[in-house]
Amino acid sequence: MDAPRSTDNSTVIKYIGSKRLLVNQIVSLCHAAAPAGGSVIDLFSGTSRVGYALKSAGFAVHANDHNAYAHNLAMCYIQTDAPKLIDQAIKIIKDLNTIAAGNGREGFVTQTYCLNSRFFHPDNGRRIDAMREHIETLDLGPELKAVVLTSLIEAADRVDSTTGVQMAYLKSWAPRAHKRIELRIPNILAHPKHLECSAHQLDAIDAAQTLSANIAYLDPPYNQHSYLGNYHIWETLVRWDHPQVYGIACKRIDCKERKSPYNSKVKIADAFDQLIDSIDADTLIVSFNNEGYLGREQIETILAKRGPLVVLDRDHPRYVGCKIGIHNQSGKKVGKAGKMCNTEYFFIAGDGAHRVADAQRELVAA
Ligand SMILES: C[S@@+](CC[C@H](N)C(=O)[O-])C[C@H]1O[C@@H](n2cnc3c(N)ncnc32)[C@H](O)[C@@H]1O
Repeated sequence: MDAPRSTDNSTVIKYIGSKRLLVNQIVSLCHAAAPAGGSVIDLFSGTSRVGYALKSAGFAVHANDHNAYAHNLAMCYIQTDAPKLIDQAIKIIKDLNTIAAGNGREGFVTQTYCLNSRFFHPDNGRRIDAMREHIETLDLGPELKAVVLTSLIEAADRVDSTTGVQMAYLKSWAPRAHKRIELRIPNILAHPKHLECSAHQLDAIDAAQTLSANIAYLDPPYNQHSYLGNYHIWETLVRWDHPQVYGIACKRIDCKERKSPYNSKVKIADAFDQLIDSIDADTLIVSFNNEGYLGREQIETILAKRGPLVVLDRDHPRYVGCKIGIHNQSGKKVGKAGKMCNTEYFFIAGDGAHRVADAQRELVAA
């Protein structure tokens, strides 16, 4: 059985706060702010969609995220130079699909996420267990392992039974949960000519103190919802550490301790302020929206330390959950759907701000 290629350009997992619809604009901003062949640090890389688009556009990208699953995606889509290992990846993913064609083997995933909770159908849970155990026996190098694990995460995401976060699962199986899991070859990229790209798993402040580039792109969390809690199953699939779990969603026990200051109303302003002071880049591009813990004026005050500042805004459709509204256990609607749109901001600070402002004026005039 051949492994199909992914039809999407970069990672396809459902991810709250992903900049999927804004990547083209971010690439344009970077082109306006920095010379061709410039470099970008993505300090909160998440799915790596932004870094992927920048790498495709010829930037040297250095991605960072403190969660292991996001680092794994960045290893696959940012750090890996496709020509070096694509043939090996295709062979391994093909073999894994042969394993997935069988009945699998009941292990941690089946027990925890299919029987104790209902994130995946048990038929797929057994296949995920068998594939993940097999990957562990292969003794792969870090980049090849990251490509294979990304393929597994993306395949599992296509047959999950959630609304896009792993805080809860659906009461009745999502139709896609009944499909047999099938891995695809991730669309990994070659490095831009003569430019290295890298992936890091550091707290943003440590990454800011370690890395330097022409541009730093910042897309921090903006409210109380922890990404580790929202995507705890991907963390476990990558770490494969069979953690103790708790609660209905069977979250990893370390979700209680591994916290980000950006999820805290009390800590976010100081953390952001210190981060901005630590970044070694001429231009900073910050994504934020009007529903976060930091207001526009607060962000402007902090960023003004970096020199000229330009702010762009645009209305953006909100996440699917708010459109559905709030339902109780039996599926009855108990709350109203929230607003359908929020305002997404780009703050551009430092040397590139004037160049971005000029480029925007030209766009408006054209
Ligand atoms: C809004 S998401 C980024 C989304 C990303 N731009 C995309 O398009 O997929 C924020 C990311 O910040 C990461 N994060 C949260 N706190 C962090 C910290 N203190 N240091 C590094 N990464 C952090 C989370 O794991 C999450 O992936």
